Amino acid sequence: MKSLRLRSFAKVNLGLEVLGVREDGYHELRTLFQTIDLADEIVLVPSGRGVRVVCDHPLVPRDESNLAARAAQLLRSYGRIGQGVEIRIHKRIPVGGGLGGGSSNAAAVLLGLDRLWKLGLGPDGLHRLAVKLGADVPYFLLGGTALGLARGDEVYPLRRQIRGYTVLVDPGIHVSTARVFARLDGRLTTRENSNSIYYFVSRELEGPGGYRFLQNDLEEAALEEAPELRVQTGRIRDVLLREGACLASLSGSGSSYFGLFEDARPAKRARAALDAEGFRAHGARTLTLEQYRGAWGRSRNRLRQ
Ligand code: C5P
Repeated sequence: MKSLRLRSFAKVNLGLEVLGVREDGYHELRTLFQTIDLADEIVLVPSGRGVRVVCDHPLVPRDESNLAARAAQLLRSYGRIGQGVEIRIHKRIPVGGGLGGGSSNAAAVLLGLDRLWKLGLGPDGLHRLAVKLGADVPYFLLGGTALGLARGDEVYPLRRQIRGYTVLVDPGIHVSTARVFARLDGRLTTRENSNSIYYFVSRELEGPGGYRFLQNDLEEAALEEAPELRVQTGRIRDVLLREGACLASLSGSGSSYFGLFEDARPAKRARAALDAEGFRAHGARTLTLEQYRGAWGRSRNRLRQ
């Protein structure tokens, strides 16, 4: 029987603006997604009749609340597949850190099972299933540097793909995305539009350097939700900017904090400086759309009997 081994990459939000609350209760967003080469390993093993998740991380659910399991169930009923699958997940992406690990796993399962079960869903079919699973899942079908609109699920790749180095710190504090958005609601002034991400995108067309336009509207609400984060992120941010990061920000609703660097050397220095201050920092390179597709293509070669 064939099994498939895949890498499921993390993302950071280089900027995130919240424009207002939508009729469906979700929020209207403008965000800039970027995949990085920090990845979980996933092995899909056809087996039995049901969907089973095997994962050694204590915070990852193994029941049907796991987004990867829901992705497999959705595909099974869509394709009327009788066969089951075991989804083995080896976690490297921090759980609940705003790095999209769960959404990325779900997208990897959609792409992987579409191939294993020869469903031939194509980009539109996969996108239709991905939006049912979560707002960030469609982005992971694409990867690279991309603009996310609507709930974050309308995704457009940018013409200039960012090539850089990120340094990440995961403070290990779980922040609920739903609660961060709810906290924001009290002070949200609904806007028809917002400019900072668009400024960035148009600047990027002229050349790099528009990072100062970017901000994360969830950052303040996340720090109120988890006040113990405030002092830590303040210190992390200072080190990252001092070492030359062109952007330092919380990712999504947190709690991971990251810096983006154009060159490898200052990124390395920032990592060392953070380690010296007692933080455990990780380095990861950004992945362009092409690199993301390439990594995905290579996983095909690992199809084995
Ligand atoms: O779609 P997903 O389940 O990943 O989103 C988690 C939570 O984040 C949602 O339940 C919702 O409360 C909030 N959210 C939102 N608006 C978005 C995306 C997420 O309010 N555009």
